[in-house]
Amino acid sequence: MDKPTKGLADVVAASTALSDIDGKAGRLFYRGYDIHDLAGRATFEETAHLLQRGTLPNRAELQAYGDELVAGRELGPLVSANVAEIAEKQKPMEALRSLVSLASADDPDRDSIEPDADLRKAARLTAQQPLLVARYHAARSGKGVPESDPVLSIAGNFLHQVTGRTPSPREAEIFDACLVLHADHTMNASTFAARVCAATLSDMHSAIVAAIGTLKGPLHGGANEQVMKTLESISPDGVAQTVRDKLAAGEKIMGFGHRVYKTEDPRATHLRRMSEELSGDEPKFYRMSKEMEEVVFETKGLYPNVDFYAASVYHYLGIPTDLFTPVFSISRMSGWTAHVIEQHADNRLIRPDSEYIGERDQKWKPIDER
Ligand code: COA
Repeated sequence: MDKPTKGLADVVAASTALSDIDGKAGRLFYRGYDIHDLAGRATFEETAHLLQRGTLPNRAELQAYGDELVAGRELGPLVSANVAEIAEKQKPMEALRSLVSLASADDPDRDSIEPDADLRKAARLTAQQPLLVARYHAARSGKGVPESDPVLSIAGNFLHQVTGRTPSPREAEIFDACLVLHADHTMNASTFAARVCAATLSDMHSAIVAAIGTLKGPLHGGANEQVMKTLESISPDGVAQTVRDKLAAGEKIMGFGHRVYKTEDPRATHLRRMSEELSGDEPKFYRMSKEMEEVVFETKGLYPNVDFYAASVYHYLGIPTDLFTPVFSISRMSGWTAHVIEQHADNRLIRPDSEYIGERDQKWKPIDER
């Protein structure tokens, strides 16, 4: 048997029509559309439609999909009854894992994995995720959540509900583009987890719970929060020295490196610009980020990934640091659900092999002789 590739690097684990990466050229496509053409031009709602339903919607399709999202933007009784206690006892990503699991019981399509049911559940999960994050944050802060405004987009509503102030149109636009940039990314760890679960013909909510648990880790979605903590923990004068010391000690710098990109992550290009634009009166974190980027590149030849500048962008938008990874989940929900739809539509159980490296030919002994 061939030696396994550690971490499954370069192993093709599924066929997908959803997204594609050219790691050498640093390009990302959703259903054939270059991310550079979508970010800042297509809304997150249009992008979610593209991923889940296959096309960029025309006006009528977008209206119908938008109506479905607005209708889905409410929490069921089981979630509502438990959100306060969960907010008291669990950290944000743990709470989301629990809340999405509870939401499955409230879902009218809970017992079906038929294509129509999957489409409806994908829209509901996409509509609910920002509300779950906002309700969780409100519950732990002892506050209520402002009512959803049907005129505002998912991005605008979320900023309003989490920060308590109506975002400027430009802030809502920038956050919307952030959601577009994070929507899908081929066979990343959380998407793979979702597909493995879906491939057992388990239901969409179960697959999303697996994905949320996987996104939580600091080598995946958790990196954006770690980036902000690093920026907050070092002095602006000590950026270069701290980064060099960490690298010399063999530590990883969060927000750098990527399994697939061998050049700049195209999403980082947009996020760097957004961070600069938002930095205005508070340029400290943008400037520190730029310096970190230069030192990491000089020392290790590594580029920033999507999480690096997302950290300062979210900070400037007023999002609490421990909600950065939940924000990633709001966006990636569109991609995860689209992958579950795709997996269910042409399914085969995902069951790889393993290389056995343990002892062989062991002789059994009764317990008193061991
Ligand atoms: N800081 C310092 N060194 C890094 C690094 C980082 N962020 N990312 C990779 N490297 C180094 C590794 O130490 C390793 O060096 P070595 O060959 O001298 O041992 C080499 O680059 C390969 O790294 P490895 O971790 O094996 O690559 P991977 O493909 O398994 O991992 C990531 C990819 C993204 C998990 C990895 O780059 C990382 O841990 N980054 C930080 C976490 C992060 O930002 N995650 C978000 C990803 S979008």
